[in-house]
Formats: sequence, structure tokens, C-alpha cells
Amino acid sequence: MRYLTFALAKGRLAKKSLEMFEKIGITCEEMKDEKTRKLIFVNEELKLKFFLAKAGDVPTYVEYGAADIGVVGKDTILEEGRKLYEVMDLGFGKCKMCVCGPESAKELLKHHDELIRVATKYPRIAKDYFYNKKHQTVEIIKLNGSVELAPIVNLSEVIVDIVETGSTLRENGLGVLEEICPLSARMVVNQVSMKMENERINKLLSDLKTVI
Ligand code: PRP
Repeated sequence: MRYLTFALAKGRLAKKSLEMFEKIGITCEEMKDEKTRKLIFVNEELKLKFFLAKAGDVPTYVEYGAADIGVVGKDTILEEGRKLYEVMDLGFGKCKMCVCGPESAKELLKHHDELIRVATKYPRIAKDYFYNKKHQTVEIIKLNGSVELAPIVNLSEVIVDIVETGSTLRENGLGVLEEICPLSARMVVNQVSMKMENERINKLLSDLKTVI
């Protein structure tokens, strides 16, 4: 039997992913050690390998088959646009992709005559929303984090970002202006692995269904 390899998104989703696997009897003790610098973890008994990767890289590993399976947020799946199968909504990491900004920016979103600036970590999602859904021409400014700063320091009128509890927005005098789509953690599978390892992957999916 060959190894099935899992790529898990580092950070918020990783811990929840491991908890979910534990519930169906898939454990990986050495991965829980937060001090470890090891990158890949093996469960010899079940012939499984796990590694943690930057969220944005998970779809890449899965598309190329370096990982058979990935656990990553829907935001990253949409933004990366990789060829893979999204097979399951894992139900955790729930949040929303939203257009946010100060209350005063609400008007700007209604009238399409003024070119507004949109700062975001998700240029593809923002472009799709403004161009294809709203038919509004905007200037998209790519940032890498702390996107809520942009309207405060006048880099942009609005942002497109993830809202979970809403406290980052509130504490910075911003709010949700429009909702783009709901998000959560998803399981993704390499297209060839889905065929070659169909039995093992389907068993995994049906086991997961019992705990989700
Ligand atoms: C995310 C997101 C928001 C915040 C939303 O940022 O970009 O800033 O969490 O959460 P809240 O609604 O519960 O306040 P993250 O902490 O991942 O870091 P980043 O700002 O560097 O992207």
C-alpha cells in the first residue's frame, strides 16, 4: 500500500483538522508538538503522511499530486483557482468574505461613476465580485495582511477581507458593507488520486461524514 499524503493549512485550521482526524482514529502524535521543526509526519500503521503548508500553497501541492488530499479554507480555494476536486465542507473555520469599510463608503459602492480603490489579500475574489457580479470597475490593491489598515490610512476606500467575529472591524471603526460569500474549511483531492485511491479516499470521506 502506498502512502496517502495530506497537506494541511498552517494556522487556525491545522489544529481543528487534527482534532477532526483524531475523531475517526487517525492520529499523528508528533505533529502536536508545537516546538518541532519537522516538516513531515508519518503514521506508519495507516500508511499516511501529513505536512503543514502555508494555506495558499495547499492547493498547489494538491494539484501537482505532491499531496493527495488537502484541508484548506474556501477563500484560498477560490483565490488560487487550482485544478482539484473540492469534496467536502468540513464545517469548521466558518466565516464570510465581505466588502468592508467605513459607513461613509456605502454610497460609493452604489454609484459606479467614481473609481474606488479596494485593498485585499484576495485580488482574484475581489475582481470576480466587482467585475463579474457587480459590473463595477475598481482599482484593486494587493496587500499581504492587516488589510483593515487600508481605509484608515487612506490607501483605499474599501477592503475585501474575511470577517469571522467582526471584532477587528469594530475595533477599527469599520463595518461590513456587502457580503460576498460564506467560507469554511474544505477537503480537496488531487484529480488523479481520486481515481487511483478511490477506495481509501471514499472510506475516509464516509468516516468523516459520521463526525461532521
Ligand atoms: C483575518 C482577517 C481579518 C480577521 C477577521 O486576519 O483578515 O483581519 O482575521 O477576524 P475577526 O472578524 O474575528 O476579527 P488574520 O488574523 O488571519 O491576519 P491578517 O490580518 O494578517 O490577514
